[in-house]
Amino acid sequence: MSEAVADTTQTEMQEESPFDPTKAEQVIERYKDIPGNLMPVLQGVQDEYGYIPKAAVELIADRLNVYPSQIYGVLTFYAQFHLKPRGKYIIRVCMGTACHVLGAERIRETFHERIGIGHAETTPDKRFTFELVACLGACGMAPLAMVNDETYGKMTVQKVDEIVKEYSSLPL
Ligand code: FES
Repeated sequence: MSEAVADTTQTEMQEESPFDPTKAEQVIERYKDIPGNLMPVLQGVQDEYGYIPKAAVELIADRLNVYPSQIYGVLTFYAQFHLKPRGKYIIRVCMGTACHVLGAERIRETFHERIGIGHAETTPDKRFTFELVACLGACGMAPLAMVNDETYGKMTVQKVDEIVKEYSSLPL
């Protein structure tokens, strides 16, 4: 196992970094006079921070004059929003029927062994987030994995090793 890979094997979640509101303030300023601005503000804040920090929810609630509970309602309804910091590289393993039948469980286990995290977890260095997902619509290439927008079909244990090695060597 390479040193870069070994660096990512702890499962402990890192604390959120201190919240700098500057970018959130800029996003709010951009949309504040537009009706129905909550969604674009949340999307803009997530684009800036990679997720929606708790402190940003308080700030948005205050500036847009809505209750934090309303914001959390939106955040939990739409799967596109994330309340925890995410990794630079999002690894997704399909657990749909075709992929399951062709060995997705072994692929999941191997990623877990190599990067030390399970579903919806992020490595402490924020290099990887790992997610199990439903059918990705390319069953002919099962078992399937993705890293960000890149698709990897006919996955094997060896391909897991190659993927982890490749993305571990990229700059953060
Ligand atoms: S079941 Fe995995 S892509 Fe369809």
